[in-house]
Amino acid sequence: MVVGYCVGEISLSELTFISDKMPQVGEYVIVEYDGKKVLGMVESLVRGNDALNIDLHDVEAIQTIARIGGKDYYIKGKVKLLGDVNDNLRLPRTPALPGTPIKLADKEILNEVFKVKNPIKLGTLVNQSDIEVNVEANPVLNRHLAILAMTGAGKSNTVAVLIDQLLGYNVPVFVFDMHGEYRDAIFPNGDVNVIQPKINPKYMTFYEIKRLVSIPNSAVIQERFFRQAFNKAQKIISEGTSHTTDFLQLIVDVLYNQVEYDDDGNISTKTDKRMIDVINKVEDSMDKYSNLFDSNKGNILTSIKLGHANVLDLSQTDESVAEVLVSHIMRNSLQRRKNAVHGSSDKTLDHPVFYVIEEAHILAPNKRDSQSKHWIQRVAREGRKFGLGLCLVSQSPKTVDHDALSQMNNMIILRLVEPEDQRHVQSASESLSKDLIDQLPSLNVGEAIVLGLMTKVPTLVKIDEFKGRRTGGDLDIIGELAGFDKKQDDELERQKQEMDDLGCYDY
Ligand SMILES: Nc1ncnc2c1ncn2[C@@H]1O[C@H](COP(=O)(O)OP(=O)(O)OP(=O)(O)O)[C@@H](O)[C@H]1O
Ligand SMILES: [Mg+2]
Repeated sequence: MVVGYCVGEISLSELTFISDKMPQVGEYVIVEYDGKKVLGMVESLVRGNDALNIDLHDVEAIQTIARIGGKDYYIKGKVKLLGDVNDNLRLPRTPALPGTPIKLADKEILNEVFKVKNPIKLGTLVNQSDIEVNVEANPVLNRHLAILAMTGAGKSNTVAVLIDQLLGYNVPVFVFDMHGEYRDAIFPNGDVNVIQPKINPKYMTFYEIKRLVSIPNSAVIQERFFRQAFNKAQKIISEGTSHTTDFLQLIVDVLYNQVEYDDDGNISTKTDKRMIDVINKVEDSMDKYSNLFDSNKGNILTSIKLGHANVLDLSQTDESVAEVLVSHIMRNSLQRRKNAVHGSSDKTLDHPVFYVIEEAHILAPNKRDSQSKHWIQRVAREGRKFGLGLCLVSQSPKTVDHDALSQMNNMIILRLVEPEDQRHVQSASESLSKDLIDQLPSLNVGEAIVLGLMTKVPTLVKIDEFKGRRTGGDLDIIGELAGFDKKQDDELERQKQEMDDLGCYDY
């Protein structure tokens, strides 16, 4: 079906058309010329009427024209050209002629475009629910993915659909579950393996622990005391003679052993004040981090199971503990994958892993330095060579680290209204045009722009509703509160009945 005709100057990547029909934004069209069959996507549409142009200022005249000629409108649209379907979707070297008809792309062509190797089915085209949208699994796994949108737009639903498809390929997915949304999930294609947020201090570096305790780099004597105590505590742990699984407690105990007391039982002046400073610092961080350590645990990476959604439950942990866990896991994964690939050590991670990081703006913040951000950036840059994939998910894209975001070679962007968010995302992704950005506020829940290496063409997708079970969707607050009164009344009634049955009466 012809939906319009090319007008004006036509470039190799873009054309303008005039139409009297109403195609839809996101729809695919075909422009045939010089033996080529070029696929394009309608990126923007406007409707106008020559008789009612912007220079008219007389209301009465406008009313009259609208009455007699108001239906004589035209539709002007812009098409982004995506490539010649007869030539592997390569862009042609010559532009189309003005006047060339533009037709809607037929089903066969579209099915061909969305036929990919190792498909991940995300959903269907927004404008054509009979066309399945598949993206290719490998580029997702080794060139990373960002899922961005305002809150409630459908990010976690997308994550769940994606995870389930990956489980079908036996991929070990590892989710940093900040809100306990995936812990109790049920995936049709694989099981959940819940991993406790505990680290055996044996696998932590001195610097990781030093950071937890906030000993500044400039405090060299404090660092000296702390390093000695750290080494001793690690030795006790590896000998298995520790009386506690709390590593920080062990360090404090080691330090207290060096404190000298005077006859009155007070700390003697002979004790170096800087050691007391260290003890204070370790004790301060004990409350915050004590639950993090478990010296009976193996390396956390050895708990990862293939073909499972490995869920690290961070719902009960503080953000600072989550940061430690993320940086520890990212650092260890990178190191152990390098060891596996280079055969340089037997401390290896023997398979690729795909990491999903929800709340990426907290774990890889744009303006603040953090250990987790450092290691997320490292995996974003180097992970691809070692089979480590990242999926960063955020409802506040503008506060996600720009460096990490620009390493995400695939993007799924759902409804996104805030201009600052849009600018940040656009500057991190070269394939996101201004016209596509302009579509973001008008997307409905679950509708997304999908682009990057995983797809041959940018696509407007209605993401499938996840078929399994997960928590974390919108709550029915009104329903819950309405039931609340009823529940209380029922309980009162039950108690009254119980009293009656026992022969007790009000007095
Ligand atoms: N593709 C979809 N089809 C149908 N319903 C959807 C779809 N995506 C999301 N929803 C519904 O919208 C609600 C919010 O979705 P979701 O939890 O995925 O949002 P979110 O972007 O992760 O939000 P938050 O930023 O709060 O984490 C859910 O109740 C979900 O059922
Ligand atoms: Mg969510």
